[in-house]
Amino acid sequence: MENKKTYYITTPIYYPSGNLHIGHSYTTVAADSAARYRRLKGYDVMFLTGTDEHGQKIQRKAAEKGVTPQEYVDEIVEGIHELWKLMDITNDKFIRTTDDYHVKAVQKIFKQLYDQGDIYKSEYEGWYCTPCESFWTETQLKDGKCPDCGRSVELTKEESYFLKLSKYQDRLIEYIETHDEFIQPVSRKNEMLNNFLRPGLEDLCVSRSSFDWGIPVTFDPGHVVYVWLDALSNYITAMGYGSDEENGDADFKKYWPAQLHLVGKEIVRFHTIIWPIILMALNLPLPEQVYGHGWLLIDGQKMGKSRGNVVDPAILVGKYGTDAIRYFLLREVPFGADGTFTNEALINRINSDLANDLGNLVSRTVSMQIKYFGGIMPDEWTHEGVDFEIQKMFADLAKKVEANYDKLEFPTALAEIWKCVARLNKYIDETTPWILAKNIDDEDTRKRLAAVMYTLLEGIRIVSVLIEPCMPSTPAKIQEQLGVSGDDIVGWESSYEWGKYPKGTQVTKGAVLFPRIDLEKELEELANIGK
Ligand code: ME8
Ligand code: MG
Repeated sequence: MENKKTYYITTPIYYPSGNLHIGHSYTTVAADSAARYRRLKGYDVMFLTGTDEHGQKIQRKAAEKGVTPQEYVDEIVEGIHELWKLMDITNDKFIRTTDDYHVKAVQKIFKQLYDQGDIYKSEYEGWYCTPCESFWTETQLKDGKCPDCGRSVELTKEESYFLKLSKYQDRLIEYIETHDEFIQPVSRKNEMLNNFLRPGLEDLCVSRSSFDWGIPVTFDPGHVVYVWLDALSNYITAMGYGSDEENGDADFKKYWPAQLHLVGKEIVRFHTIIWPIILMALNLPLPEQVYGHGWLLIDGQKMGKSRGNVVDPAILVGKYGTDAIRYFLLREVPFGADGTFTNEALINRINSDLANDLGNLVSRTVSMQIKYFGGIMPDEWTHEGVDFEIQKMFADLAKKVEANYDKLEFPTALAEIWKCVARLNKYIDETTPWILAKNIDDEDTRKRLAAVMYTLLEGIRIVSVLIEPCMPSTPAKIQEQLGVSGDDIVGWESSYEWGKYPKGTQVTKGAVLFPRIDLEKELEELANIGK
């Protein structure tokens, strides 16, 4: 189709200063689920992720290891590609800030802003937090430490270029005040306005001259571009902005402005103050939304590479499977708020929601269908009162789920789906198909039993369609057991309507979807891996 609506979504580009952990997976899985959802809804999606490879932190890490920064990041980036493959991430592009096209485009951007007077040369004196790669004034420090992460800052005095944030401040305040959707959740919007914008912005230091792992400023080679100016630009350079090639910016024209920058809450400030001002200075439209989600905590602290309290997603995926981990991440933490990660919560979730509720429902239903009807859906059945209640519940489900997926409310969307899963399980207990089966030779009873089986199979079919954005490989496994395929029956819009499971369809018994986990034993094993 020519005029499909576009949907451009991004994750932060992560520092390859160490292996990524479950916190990074959290953002990337959420973005992937949003991207998959939009694709299922027929959008032309552009989903971007990548790595932010320059800066003092990475240069130091490489030096500690005795390798060049490029060698250092190359190895880690390879692992990141593997991780995203493991997590079933469907990014359309992957940008590395060491990519040649990006380097050139950032140099152009810097030069343009300098030529038009938005960047000027001066001297910086103040404090720098290397883990956060951010500047602070004396008064912004909290007890002499970084106000964001609480770690030590370094006194920095160097010749620097500055970006005139102050020039764009009023325009940005007005923009934020008149565009409610721009910063989400709304509490973060108030924080930006009250803590940073209204008190007044100081011009931002946008080059460094005390180290050299960065993009050189073309007209002043002792300087490299400050890592955040370099990093934020990725959202447009990845689309070809600033490209020298003919039609090199076709994707930029097609996809910019982005619909959504999904980020962790600690970098909302960079994305809603510095980034919009860079775009204003470049005379480009602003992204539609920056969503700052909460943190995964361990023992009350943010999980972080530099804190070392990390959980390795590859180990968890290896043990429990990609869809189980994705489900847990999206289901457990109210999106936007912080949530504590524990192995116990993970295993309990998998056992209760996946093994017990969904897994058992599918396996019991398929087994009964085989036992009572040789696995084949009869042509005739008779619905009764309780069936209509269930039909009504399912008829409303897709609408509710979409409304929540639209707002990135994954936990609520999944909770709505699981309410229906639970309802179907209860329905089995209420209708007691095994008792009906004793009288299967009676035509009325047989039709009633067929209606019960139809209700279960049709409900499961709808569930399997609606979980797909979050759990990409489970739907096909369920649908194979159900014996259904094709857009008409299991495409996204098939979930809008009750009654599509075809007569005469044959079910087949499949492998257990989510094996039950022995909590005690696994907790012990996981604790030993951590040592
Ligand atoms: O900040 N809980 O990179 P970074 C939830 N390069 N999300 C978490 C998390 C946690 N405990 N830990 C990390 C940078 N994240 C810059 C970004 S963008 C132009 C440049 C996720 O490697 C979350 O999305 O420190 C957070 O914002 C991001 O990883 C930070 O990754
Ligand atoms: Mg960080």
